[in-house]
Amino acid sequence: MSEHIRVLLPEEEVDARIQEIGEQISREYEGKQVHMICVLKGGSFFMCELAKRITVPVSLDFMAVSSYGSGTTSGGVVKIVKDLDETIREKDVLVVEDIVDSGRTLSYLLEMLQARGPKSLRLCTLLDKPDRRVVDVKVDYTGFHIPDEFVVGYGLDYDQRYRNLPYIGVIEFK
Ligand code: IMP
Ligand code: MG
Repeated sequence: MSEHIRVLLPEEEVDARIQEIGEQISREYEGKQVHMICVLKGGSFFMCELAKRITVPVSLDFMAVSSYGSGTTSGGVVKIVKDLDETIREKDVLVVEDIVDSGRTLSYLLEMLQARGPKSLRLCTLLDKPDRRVVDVKVDYTGFHIPDEFVVGYGLDYDQRYRNLPYIGVIEFK
């Protein structure tokens, strides 16, 4: 079986949208410092590009969670593989994710972070697949709503590959 990548969102479109979100965040966080939390590994490309376009002070931290399995669907079990280095207490926290799919990972994560007492907690995702939602999650900033297809690129992987594609593509198996 061979894999083929069909372009869904070209690089220019993704970059232009990230610029818009960066400007919106810069306006809405005026006078504050944004503490961006990247959910590894998928969120890393998006977070770097977004952080570069934010004009208020920014600090960064990283965490890794795993929803078991390496196929094209995520399971219900979420495990923290790497926790944050710094406290988020009294900080204006912005969680940056690659994609919200079923919502299971994020709903678990946001609840856990909320319990640590941030001043504010918002969620920014590059992609959202609303048709797939199982658990309700409040998303504050969304790059693109996409149909229910398995996508790769811009941090998103299929079995750890394709994260480095500078665009978003749909993986097709022939
Ligand atoms: P959720 O918990 O189902 O919302 O999805 C959590 C994780 O599943 C995301 O952070 C991604 O790592 C992965 N995921 C969901 N949909 C896709 C996709 O279309 N391509 C690549 N990874 C995906
Ligand atoms: Mg992810």
